[in-house]
Amino acid sequence: MNIKYKLGNTLHQISFCRKREKNNISKEIEKLRSDRNILLIYDDKINQNITKQVFEDLKLSGCKIFTLKSEGDKKNKNEKFLFKIIDLLIRRKFTKKSIIISLGGGVVGDVSALASSLYLRGLIYFNIPSTMTSIVDSCIGGKTAINYKGITNSVGTYYHPKNVFILEDIFQNIPNREFDAGIAEIIKCGVIDNEKILNFLKMNKEKIYKRDYKTVANLCKQTLQSKIKFFKTDVYENDKRLFLNFGHTFAHAIEMATEVNLKKDFIRHGEAVGLGMLAEIYYENRSKGKIFNLVKDLLKTYNLPIKLDFTKIKINKIKLLNDIYKNLFLDKKKIDKYPRYISIKKIGSPKVKEIKDFDFINDTILKVLF
Ligand code: GLY
Repeated sequence: MNIKYKLGNTLHQISFCRKREKNNISKEIEKLRSDRNILLIYDDKINQNITKQVFEDLKLSGCKIFTLKSEGDKKNKNEKFLFKIIDLLIRRKFTKKSIIISLGGGVVGDVSALASSLYLRGLIYFNIPSTMTSIVDSCIGGKTAINYKGITNSVGTYYHPKNVFILEDIFQNIPNREFDAGIAEIIKCGVIDNEKILNFLKMNKEKIYKRDYKTVANLCKQTLQSKIKFFKTDVYENDKRLFLNFGHTFAHAIEMATEVNLKKDFIRHGEAVGLGMLAEIYYENRSKGKIFNLVKDLLKTYNLPIKLDFTKIKINKIKLLNDIYKNLFLDKKKIDKYPRYISIKKIGSPKVKEIKDFDFINDTILKVLF
């Protein structure tokens, strides 16, 4: 099962790779005019069998393979990791026709893609995502980044993977909490684009829980096809790509506030996106309505939080509320002084709007998040 899409004159492909097919990656490498040098950058948390499987496949290509192990932790999404990759490329005399392959989640993917775009102004880049969020969201669309001077994704480029490989074995190896967090990005695509995705999530929950390959791969395929529609004609996010940020204005504000006030790992990105969607629907409609309840029920079905969970922690709620409020104004989509968010009045009909009713922000935080 493949998805093909064109950006300019270049054809890109996402391949869903069954375990029984042993040479998916090497077959694609053979189609390219490369110099037969590969750097495989992999997350140290990846199951060893998967790393081995990728390595065996790459060996079939007959290319010279170099490897770099990395920690896929958010704290490594920095210039040190970026230049470690670039130093290796220089040392090994990589050219514009060499290949970088990332095997990992969003951190390894974003930094590897940034290095691929910078070294000699761009070499060949493949992505093998290993978390649910990277499979259904960050593996395509070309956003690359490091965090710099404490600002998330402050330095980055747009650079698209020529090929993405989604491996059958990866689905079974994703920890439950991470798997569920990725479902939030799937719900997001359903709400902004395609009710069929939401119905699929409702109808197939048993099979999705069990990670039945065909069902989960089908779900990911629908989500990726939906995402492609949004960025294909607006890579630089001036128009319809903005809709992919549904839930993210509040999500980023929540993530930044909880990172400062609470323990690391209190909330995953996908979990914050789930809460952010509820907050943005509530803010838009000034009440909880049909769409709010639809999203809430789906979040519950997939074990995602529908409120911030204060049961196991001690927290100064007033400070947290003020921090979430303040952080909304750091929104990267902001043009003038107003943060922007994605308004949903009808499934499949998103609009970009500004947060101008400052009083209602507190109401939203208190009634939806707390
Ligand atoms: N994660 C949203 C985007 O790629 O635009």
